[in-house]
Amino acid sequence: MSIHQGSIHAVMSLLVMSLLWVSMASEARDTTPKLEKAPNASVETILSGFAELPPDVDAFPNQSNMDLYAWREFIALNWPAAPGTCEPDRSRTFLDTKGPRVWETWLQPSDVFVPPGEAPARWCSAREERARLGKIQQSVGGVLVDQNGRFVRYEVRLNEDAYNYLLANNLWNKAGQREATINLPAGPDDKFCKDQSCGPVGTVEVKAAWKVLGQGDDPSRFYTIEAEVYNDDLVPPTASPDPNPVTLGLVGLHIAHKTASQRSWLWATFEHVDNVTKSFNNPDCPETPSYTPNPPRPCTTRCCAPNAPTAAKDPETKTYVELDPFGQPLHRPTQVTRLRGPSSQRLNKHFKVLFGNSPWSNYELISNQWMGINPQTPTPTYLANTVMETFIQGQHPASDGIPAYPAPGYNPFSTRTSSSCIKCHSVAKTTSGRSADFSFLFSGAQ
Ligand code: HEC
Repeated sequence: MSIHQGSIHAVMSLLVMSLLWVSMASEARDTTPKLEKAPNASVETILSGFAELPPDVDAFPNQSNMDLYAWREFIALNWPAAPGTCEPDRSRTFLDTKGPRVWETWLQPSDVFVPPGEAPARWCSAREERARLGKIQQSVGGVLVDQNGRFVRYEVRLNEDAYNYLLANNLWNKAGQREATINLPAGPDDKFCKDQSCGPVGTVEVKAAWKVLGQGDDPSRFYTIEAEVYNDDLVPPTASPDPNPVTLGLVGLHIAHKTASQRSWLWATFEHVDNVTKSFNNPDCPETPSYTPNPPRPCTTRCCAPNAPTAAKDPETKTYVELDPFGQPLHRPTQVTRLRGPSSQRLNKHFKVLFGNSPWSNYELISNQWMGINPQTPTPTYLANTVMETFIQGQHPASDGIPAYPAPGYNPFSTRTSSSCIKCHSVAKTTSGRSADFSFLFSGAQ
């Protein structure tokens, strides 16, 4: 791959950063990728150093190092998967856009939290040929409607270390959770995981957001999949009146990772760069008032109230319905604006350069939330993905002051509470009401 002259500087800085990374990390363990040919390295060589994820940050805990680690997670998890192994295929490069990517081969909660009497799927067992995306509601409820009137679809997956822990401790069912104290594995340096494998990387859980690509969307700007979508989220869901499968573009990716040094996990979130300029925002809306943390004023069709839900539940089915029987959208687009910017535009630019013309160059890290140097202080304090925590991006409402975590009366699911990954996930419980170690997966057990 040829690198644009003007971009050399950025690539070189990244290379220097990678080398710094290697020298810092290699003190701890020698599984770290070696960039021996670094001075003449091609983009592919640089990226191949990121195919395998080191289990922890291994660098001074500050935001820049957390952000760089988040990018390492993004590349390792989005590496093309080798057929049948669910591991990165080292014979292919990151810039090869064909799926599935590593995280897409991981199991979904519904494969693991199966009804009693059934057995959870085996790790990396043969998967259905085509993805089915049934989840349309955000974690605080509500749906996100794109500029074409289509809903955003969500999916969740867990890695092998999490899977092994759930199976070894019989935590995939309600009965097994009854007396259990949940302590998900945090990788090889985990001092607290007794008598069992802590896994080579620790627990990783991801949540992805997908947008139906339609009029005005350029599929070459997205990582895409073909998937079956539905008209609602009933069980079983209603078939869409529109043709299926559809092409979807990845618009958001949460990566949550429990590591030995970050026992309240690392919370990285990535977005597609068109989210708040095009896909979920009409820059020409004649009346877009500025954002206010108060509920939006009643809006006419000429008005796009930012970050306010536009869809109401269908009174009959009690859930959200996307299209009418003729395939026409039932809801107005949601006008999405970002209230807090990416923590490192500089780092994002470096990776953009490395990714060249590939669709991956259109993804950006918003931030990686971690437990900062001051105890009980998530850093950054608030973090939201505009397509996953659309309606609770905040703006420091009085009800949710700076640290207080988890304070009595704290209700992360109120639309008046600002989105904080760590704070909200800290309230996750098992089916027996015990702390679930930041993972909402347990509550789905049967
Ligand atoms: C208001 C609470 C809340 C906030 C804020 C929040 N989440 Fe979640 N998250 C949830 C709930 C509830 C689920 C499970 C249901 C679902 O998937 O929507 C979930 C699911 C997830 C999952 C899948 C694994 C699991 O625990 O179910 C990941 C990964 C995740 N969130 C990451 C993040 C990241 C990263 C952020 C911050 C940028 C974040 N979340 C902010 C409530 C929240």
